[in-house]
Amino acid sequence: MCKISVFGLGYVGCVGIGCLSHLGHSVVGCDIDAGKVKRINDGVPTIVEREIGDFIAEGKKKGLISATNSTEEAVLNTSISLICVGTPNSPEGNLDLSFVFSAVHNIASALKLKSEYHTIVVRSTVPPGTNERICSFIENETGKKVGVDFGVVSNPEFLREGKAVQDFLTPPITVLGSAQKKSIEAMRSIYEPLQADVIEVDPKVAEIIKFVNNSYHALKVTFANEIGAICKALSIDSHQVMNLFCRDTQLNISSVYFKPGFAYGGSCLPKDLMGLRALARDNNLTVPVLESIDSSNKGQIKRAVDFICRKKVHRVGIIGLTFKSGTDDLRNSAPVLLAESLIAKGMDLQIYDRYLNLAKESGTNQEQIVGKLSSLNLNVVPTIKEILESSELVVITVANPEVTALIPSYPNVSFFDLARLKNESVMKVSNYEGFSW
Ligand SMILES: NC(=O)c1ccc[n+]([C@@H]2O[C@H](COP(=O)([O-])OP(=O)(O)OC[C@H]3O[C@@H](n4cnc5c(N)ncnc54)[C@H](O)[C@@H]3O)[C@@H](O)[C@H]2O)c1
Repeated sequence: MCKISVFGLGYVGCVGIGCLSHLGHSVVGCDIDAGKVKRINDGVPTIVEREIGDFIAEGKKKGLISATNSTEEAVLNTSISLICVGTPNSPEGNLDLSFVFSAVHNIASALKLKSEYHTIVVRSTVPPGTNERICSFIENETGKKVGVDFGVVSNPEFLREGKAVQDFLTPPITVLGSAQKKSIEAMRSIYEPLQADVIEVDPKVAEIIKFVNNSYHALKVTFANEIGAICKALSIDSHQVMNLFCRDTQLNISSVYFKPGFAYGGSCLPKDLMGLRALARDNNLTVPVLESIDSSNKGQIKRAVDFICRKKVHRVGIIGLTFKSGTDDLRNSAPVLLAESLIAKGMDLQIYDRYLNLAKESGTNQEQIVGKLSSLNLNVVPTIKEILESSELVVITVANPEVTALIPSYPNVSFFDLARLKNESVMKVSNYEGFSW
């Protein structure tokens, strides 16, 4: 059994104390709102949520739950403090951390009266870097040393209102981010009875994941709604469509396409997306999510061009020109668009593409390839070495093992990787830079 204090008795805090007591821990709730403190001390929840009434009543009856408005009382009687206070948007849209830092300030004041190690856990949604800020803040306020006297863990909460108890007790994963092993171990022991995998990550990863999750959930809802609008206009059952969509767990509901990297291209994605937008337009429908996809994709190409321009280089090599590895197809290829932009900026380009060379050798697809290359005036060379020996910067658009092996031999060439080579040691050399990582 652990002794835990919970700061903030709103949705996250109330569910937290109910569920933690259900797991057998002794929990002290702390809130600046006297009404919420009283409710918990009366054994009733501060929110309306399935099952939580029973959990709070049961915890109270077993003597595992109490509440106070005294931070000192909460901190001095526990070894772990969970921060579950609100982080509303500021007028500019940032998350306002004033409640978080007011709670941290109070916890720090109480820590001055304590000699035992204490763990502070951030369950509120906070921007990346907050964990570090809290560590420095407490060190400055108390003179204590992070890792010696206290630790700070980023442990985002994934619950959904309405299913909060179920989500707390059966989370998809449990994420812990901290540089203090002792605090990580303390949190592991709290969550031991839960089935979920506990994943240790860098604190900034733990902090940003909640923003990423929620933004993606919002994207899912709006995407499905736009598909619904188009289907309805065409008298198609949108639920049958989306049920079918979800049945494809290889490409649709899967990790495929979720790797940050270069823009998409090819003969299908751009064409069919444009076709779907045309169907919406023909039915007088506005579909901003679908309409924004192409401009986001072009933005990714522009980001790559801007990066290369900032390097102030003239001789640039590109490894991989087709729209993806394993094909000789140049239709709507993002590397071709990149090459065109670089030529327009006056750069001297050399290109190597294994599959174009294979196609040239075998004579397949000749007309399309030769026509495209000569219309763009692109110089395709037969070996990678030719590029490496004549370029100041080499852009990698395909995760080619040939180039991975050669990078260490060319320390004076800068490598700009759009494809994410599958080799961690190469990614650490100083003349290598990844695009979106
Ligand atoms: N509501 C959700 O479904 C949900 C899910 C996951 C994560 N989150 C995140 O968790 C955090 C809390 O959300 P919520 O919905 O529980 O907020 P809430 O507004 O319901 O509760 C926040 C509580 O914190 C209290 N508080 C403010 N300053 C305090 C202080 N210095 N000391 C003690 N208590 C203090 C408030 O009085 C209030 O009771 C937010 O960052 C939110 O984004 C919320």
